[in-house]
Amino acid sequence: MNIIRAKDYEEMSRRAADILAAQIILKPDCVLGLATGSTPLGVYARLIDRYNRGDLDFSRVSTVNLDEYRGLPAENEQSYRYFMDHRLFRHINIRQDHTFVPDGMEPDGALACQTYEEIIRGLGGIDLQLLGLGNNGHIGFNEPGPIFEKETHPVDLSESTIQANARFFEQIGQVPTQAYTMGIGTILKARKILIIVSGSGKADIVARAFRGPVTPQVPASILQMHPDVTLVADEEALADLPL
Ligand code: F6R
Repeated sequence: MNIIRAKDYEEMSRRAADILAAQIILKPDCVLGLATGSTPLGVYARLIDRYNRGDLDFSRVSTVNLDEYRGLPAENEQSYRYFMDHRLFRHINIRQDHTFVPDGMEPDGALACQTYEEIIRGLGGIDLQLLGLGNNGHIGFNEPGPIFEKETHPVDLSESTIQANARFFEQIGQVPTQAYTMGIGTILKARKILIIVSGSGKADIVARAFRGPVTPQVPASILQMHPDVTLVADEEALADLPL
């Protein structure tokens, strides 16, 4: 695994944006796997800057997001579709019909997930998957559990994830308890993986994920088995990871 040590959140964001930009320049019709949450916000802001400067062209890029809450429509400000539209897509020249997020409003979970797998397959797979890291080691919404789930699947969010996501909602009771997420197998099929982590609160889980045993109790630990992973993290997040 390639580890890039950044001084702080700003540098982490800049370096990760460099890697995504390089991917788009080298393969203008690439398929990017994207993440939501707090960590990628700086990366998306930098990609928008580069687009505004005329340095990046998204017109042939396709994107597939990792996950979506079940039951939230695209217009809901907390849906991941809304997040992506407002934090990235509306500010760049990507075609809206080239952007994919699992359909959280499809009540038939099996159908929603199978359709999403077919979309990813139809695009020819993911060239570069951007990931954040959950406090409990989750990637996408693959929560700690007895097995690594392979394909896109419905998931019950763990209590710690519901608590962590409560900051985006007015009341904890409004936080959805279920989501559709790409599976670990789907993520591992990405040709390249870029995982970004920031802050001292993640130092312990970074060490467990990247230096501990590979176990579904720490879903991100499976990334140790992928041939092309780059971890871009700031000093605080890397504090417990021996050099
Ligand atoms: C988001 C996602 C999650 C987040 C993770 C970290 O699409 O799949 O796995 O990446 O929960 O979230 P933040 O960045 O908010 O700490």
